[in-house]
Amino acid sequence: MQQRFVPVRVREGYSVVIGSGLLAKSGQLLREKLGLCRLAVVTDSNVEKLYLPQLLSSLAEAGFDACSFVFPAGEANKRLNILSGMLEFFAEQHITRTDCVVALGGGVTGDMAGFAAGCYQRGIQYVQIPTTLLAAVDSSVGGKTAVDLAAGKNLTGLFHQPSLVVCDTDTFATLAPDEFANGAAEAIKTAILDDGALFSLFESGETADHMTDIVERCVAFKATIVEADETETGVRKTLNLGHTAGHAIERCSDYSIPHGHAVAIGLAIIARASERLGWATEPIARRVEHALMRNGLPTTTSFTPEALAEAALSDKKRAGGQITLVVPKKIGECVLADLPMEQLLDVFRAGMVAGA
Ligand SMILES: NC(=O)c1ccc[n+]([C@@H]2O[C@H](COP(=O)([O-])OP(=O)(O)OC[C@H]3O[C@@H](n4cnc5c(N)ncnc54)[C@H](O)[C@@H]3O)[C@@H](O)[C@H]2O)c1
Ligand SMILES: [Zn+2]
Repeated sequence: MQQRFVPVRVREGYSVVIGSGLLAKSGQLLREKLGLCRLAVVTDSNVEKLYLPQLLSSLAEAGFDACSFVFPAGEANKRLNILSGMLEFFAEQHITRTDCVVALGGGVTGDMAGFAAGCYQRGIQYVQIPTTLLAAVDSSVGGKTAVDLAAGKNLTGLFHQPSLVVCDTDTFATLAPDEFANGAAEAIKTAILDDGALFSLFESGETADHMTDIVERCVAFKATIVEADETETGVRKTLNLGHTAGHAIERCSDYSIPHGHAVAIGLAIIARASERLGWATEPIARRVEHALMRNGLPTTTSFTPEALAEAALSDKKRAGGQITLVVPKKIGECVLADLPMEQLLDVFRAGMVAGA
């Protein structure tokens, strides 16, 4: 069985274990890391049916006493009322400071369970067991946790690093194609930032046989960035590649376009703009478009550049009269560029038309 360990060297440090068949071994992996304590497993109503019984039996085999909190699946439930129910549940179950929360599921589960662990009794440990490609390559590493407010997504949360991440790549087999594509968009983003070999896998469309490699490379890349900039004041901003336009598209669509799909369009826009505005040092736009389409992702939008620029400039990430854009120069090299806000419209205009 392929099994990889990627270290994340922040504060106490933790490992991301990646491979096939790991759910059945998760009890043993948690036991090695945590010793014996009580576990509060958090999962959503979809993942409960698919993977909770297997996880609970592996935990019981390893000698753990575990209780589980299940909430209704979906981003609409990443809210304070569910978080509050979770915290009350921990208290009712007499979870103490030396116990541990286990997040079994996608990014919604991870963000909420991590937040709950970070504030319950002023912070207890948690373990991530991501079951979506998006959670595996993105949200389960880095320690960002949050819930949505009526005023916007992820507006309340904290940084709280997990003690361990266990990623069983077999779980991706049950993902709906659109959910898989959502994660692929973030992985393609990483490939554009990091390295040609990873990008080639997406260009060829041969991802199914290389899931462990893909997750390992994405996690290793995110780990180096998070290690350098744990709380996102500098280099971690490069992870926002494709996200300025992506967030604008999400907002313009009133969040009916899923995040990964919006990011895919954002990646295509910034790649085309970079090429047309002379920032790229080699042709990249066609390659980026091709890799995205090969993996079931869109590359164009019917929103106007004006609408996108307006939506982007109400973004929380702007500072003063400047906006920081992540600009791809070639596959494997991106730079941060501070632009006057008025120039964003020109960038979006340059990035709008595919294949021109
Ligand atoms: N903390 C971070 O750094 C970070 C980074 C990126 C995204 N996020 C957050 O992550 C969330 C999106 O994550 P997501 O796409 O995983 O969403 P999600 O957790 O809602 O999962 C998507 C859907 O897939 C289902 N599902 C999960 N695993 C499955 C499996 N193995 N088989 C079948 N169905 C499965 C879920 O029940 C859900 O319906 C957003 O809330 C976003 O803000 C956080
Ligand atoms: Zn993203």
